[in-house]
Amino acid sequence: MSSTSGTSLCRLAGFVVLAGLISFTVMYFWTSPLTICQSLQPTLKKKNSEKSNNSLPVAKEEKPILLLWFWPENYFFDFSDCKTFYNYDGCELTDDRSLYSNADAVLLFHKAISWDLSNLPPSPRPLFQKWIWFNVESPTNTEKKPGLENLFNLTLSYREDADIPVRLRLTTNKKAEAFEIPKKEKLICWIVSNNSPHTGVNTRNSYFHELSKHVYVHTYGKAYGTFLDYKDYYPTIASCKFYLSFENSIHKDYITEKFNGPLAAGTVPVVMGPPRRNYEKFVPGDAFIHVDDFPDPKSLAEYLKQLDMDDDAYHRYFNWRTHLSARPHLILQNQEFILAICTACDHVGRHKEYREAHDIYEWYFN
Ligand SMILES: *[C@@H]1O[C@H](CO)[C@@H](O)[C@H](O)[C@H]1NC(C)=O
Ligand SMILES: *[C@@H]1O[C@H](CO)[C@@H](O)[C@H](O)[C@H]1NC(C)=O
Repeated sequence: MSSTSGTSLCRLAGFVVLAGLISFTVMYFWTSPLTICQSLQPTLKKKNSEKSNNSLPVAKEEKPILLLWFWPENYFFDFSDCKTFYNYDGCELTDDRSLYSNADAVLLFHKAISWDLSNLPPSPRPLFQKWIWFNVESPTNTEKKPGLENLFNLTLSYREDADIPVRLRLTTNKKAEAFEIPKKEKLICWIVSNNSPHTGVNTRNSYFHELSKHVYVHTYGKAYGTFLDYKDYYPTIASCKFYLSFENSIHKDYITEKFNGPLAAGTVPVVMGPPRRNYEKFVPGDAFIHVDDFPDPKSLAEYLKQLDMDDDAYHRYFNWRTHLSARPHLILQNQEFILAICTACDHVGRHKEYREAHDIYEWYFN
């Protein structure tokens, strides 16, 4: 309330001053609008901040509360991880449902919502509260539960056009840095844990099948009966010249940690997923090889074997390293949702605007 009247006062003052400016230029400098508005500010601020002695009022802002309604897949973690791993500290994260009526935002993991919606938070919903649709699966692996279309205020997804896009991004180096390519022992590697046909893995499996007729691929992971220990994840990828970053299903912006792994490890990703242009929104075009750059798996195999013989050409795939860096993503199973949840926390801490997210399925599936 007081801030609204403050604004109109400022406007009025601005108008008066502007009028004054036309007739008496000197007057303008005397009662400049800046002085008027500044003198209004402290009185407004004091109301919200704690009493301070003589020094400037310390703006001890209360952080918004973000309530995690469901623990995704029951993968628990310590909320302080947001600060530890990403330096995100913008909200008060909690899983304590008794804080519901005070929560500024509620994070609702789509997969955990029951089909009859009976496990959603209770009514009435506080007027200031925002609900966040939390879904990091691709449309192929998202169930269209009816009744959720117009309940939310914000969307959280890997999609760039979500209100809260979740992604570990390359960072720029302040100054050029030399990058040392890790020692290579193998040509091509692939770690596959999920191979259930319903998740859309057919395309990548048949491509892999064709490819491996022409070049040997070292395979790891549950799907191949060789379980790779977490601590071996990055070293294994680093020891290969190329890594197959094949997404399970193909959707715009659906470029996952399968791509980040080799980038962070110092290996060239061979990608299957959305078109090359989509990848180039996130990383330079010379940092990866796209299967669509080749007419068929055989030509890709030949190209990779050719690069194996040509160190200069291979090294060019790391040129981007001098000015950009890739950060390793968290790899433990119970860490799968930390980045998403922490990103939500960061967003909630920065954005207070009113929002309604309409027809989320229309947006998500079409
Ligand atoms: C202001 O008050 C706080 C709490 O009473 C005290 O710790 C601090 O030293 C005081 N600062 C000054 C500048 O007096
Ligand atoms: C959140 O979205 C709902 C549903 O569209 C809307 O009724 C509510 O006013 C919104 N609240 C806020 C704080 O944005």
